Amino acid sequence: AEDLWKKEYDFAVAVARKAGAVIREAGEKEIKVCTKSSTVDLVTKTDERVEKIIIGSLKEEFGEGTHCFIGEESVAKGEPCILTDKPTWIIDPVDGTTNFVHGFPFVAVSIAFAVNKELEFGVVYSCLEDKMYKARRGKGAFCDDDRITVSDVEEIKKSIIISEHGTDRSPEKVKKIFSTMQKILCIPVHGLRGSGTAATNMCLVACGAVEAFFEIGIHCWDIAAGAVIVKEAGGILLDVDGMSIRSVNCVAINQALCFGETPLLKNRLCLTIQGGPFDLMSRRMVSANNKKIADRIIKEIEIFPAERDDAP
Ligand code: IPD
Repeated sequence: AEDLWKKEYDFAVAVARKAGAVIREAGEKEIKVCTKSSTVDLVTKTDERVEKIIIGSLKEEFGEGTHCFIGEESVAKGEPCILTDKPTWIIDPVDGTTNFVHGFPFVAVSIAFAVNKELEFGVVYSCLEDKMYKARRGKGAFCDDDRITVSDVEEIKKSIIISEHGTDRSPEKVKKIFSTMQKILCIPVHGLRGSGTAATNMCLVACGAVEAFFEIGIHCWDIAAGAVIVKEAGGILLDVDGMSIRSVNCVAINQALCFGETPLLKNRLCLTIQGGPFDLMSRRMVSANNKKIADRIIKEIEIFPAERDDAP
């Protein structure tokens, strides 16, 4: 039988390796930094150049008409960020741009491929460590040639959790992020960490180095490849915002839940905070080794609004 998408997968691994080499080389020269959505949302010529190399190679190999592309820097320049049923590549050329600029040693190339809105494979090349994380749907997850699996820790008190601060520094969001971290730290967990790249963070969940990684405000290109890798390593992905809240379907209540008064409303309406199904475009993600750990973390997360990646 035909090994569907194998050619695309092998090509993605090769392109990610090539892109990683370009990033490594660029890191040794002077890096010119520009900003995007805020003064801490950095972008470099390397981000743009590497995205062009990746998309250029893919178009050359698979033809422009049949495949679609969602790339971080193309979207920043106004290209649409919509997932259709067509074969679609979702690309972050340099995940961990701030790390790259500072020489902090975690920078990843993230390439995912979806068909009929389902992720078929993901490749995350942690290029400064030279580790190639990869997974195809239904075929397990690997770091280089070794099979990887999530940790078997079930007790939150024996876990390490990763979170990031993102690039939005509005005081009310930062307050929620730190309040969430404080609550999780004081459960207590063994530790809180963060590598500065969402893609690498997800691979750390996949190989069992940490139990979970969550973030509100991430984008589809940061997590698409990592999502396949976590799932194939036996882990779980959830949206931090639960169905039970959504089903109430009341704008005022949703707003109140996002801006303070949470405990009061939670008690009065008996709403349970729980994870919803993973949504690539919702910008709210928990990845964990198992549901028990994911649910425990979601209980502590103070949700704040983030506009969907595919918002019109
Ligand atoms: C960022 C990294 C970081 C996460 C941010 C992302 P970028 O990606 O993944 O870990 O906290 O939310 O934007 O901008 O370096 O590709």
